[in-house]
Amino acid sequence: MNTSVTVVDHPLVQHKLTLMRRKEASTAEFRKLLREIGLFLGYEVLRDLPLSDVQIETPVCPTKSPVLAGKKLAFISVLRAGDGLLGPMLDLVPSARVGQVGLARDEETLQPTRYFFKVPKGIDKRLTVVLDPMLATGHSAIRAVQELKDAGAKDLRFVCLLAAPEGIKAFTEAHPDVQVVTASIDEKLNDKAYIVPGLGDAGDRLFGTKEG
Ligand code: URA
Repeated sequence: MNTSVTVVDHPLVQHKLTLMRRKEASTAEFRKLLREIGLFLGYEVLRDLPLSDVQIETPVCPTKSPVLAGKKLAFISVLRAGDGLLGPMLDLVPSARVGQVGLARDEETLQPTRYFFKVPKGIDKRLTVVLDPMLATGHSAIRAVQELKDAGAKDLRFVCLLAAPEGIKAFTEAHPDVQVVTASIDEKLNDKAYIVPGLGDAGDRLFGTKEG
């Protein structure tokens, strides 16, 4: 199976992304822009949700009109930066269930280890959208998706704001069945595994936790 990778190249997304990348963007601006772009990413990742017609009456006449066919959704935030995409996703689908996966790097193995995992019941029957703004090496995204598959999730998609080519390659090799939606595939990773040109540490910029 070939993974589909979709880059949302809408001019508004690209404009807002440039504003976010700027090092002088404040925490408030960064948060607001991530929320706005998140709406576009959500629009794209959910574009094939099934519809069914219901009978309604407009002020003019009775008509049949489409509504969501009741597909159950789960949005999974990969802590902590994934929380920045949760708000816009829930704006789009307020009834979706929410889970969180917390991963920390084991300093000996350098691999992500799980410190928190809570997902909605019936994950095996839900379209499960995993949220993590930065697909850098891909290690934590790959691990998060594997944990969700181990918990029963079968229909998964992955939403990020930025991806590195290295992360896209590793992720799509590990999970060829999971569609990726991103606003940009940047140039490369640097030797500290930051995305270049990137935007720095997404969690710090979102929560204003950078020291100094
Ligand atoms: N995580 C981030 O927050 N930024 C990067 O550039 C890479 C990983």
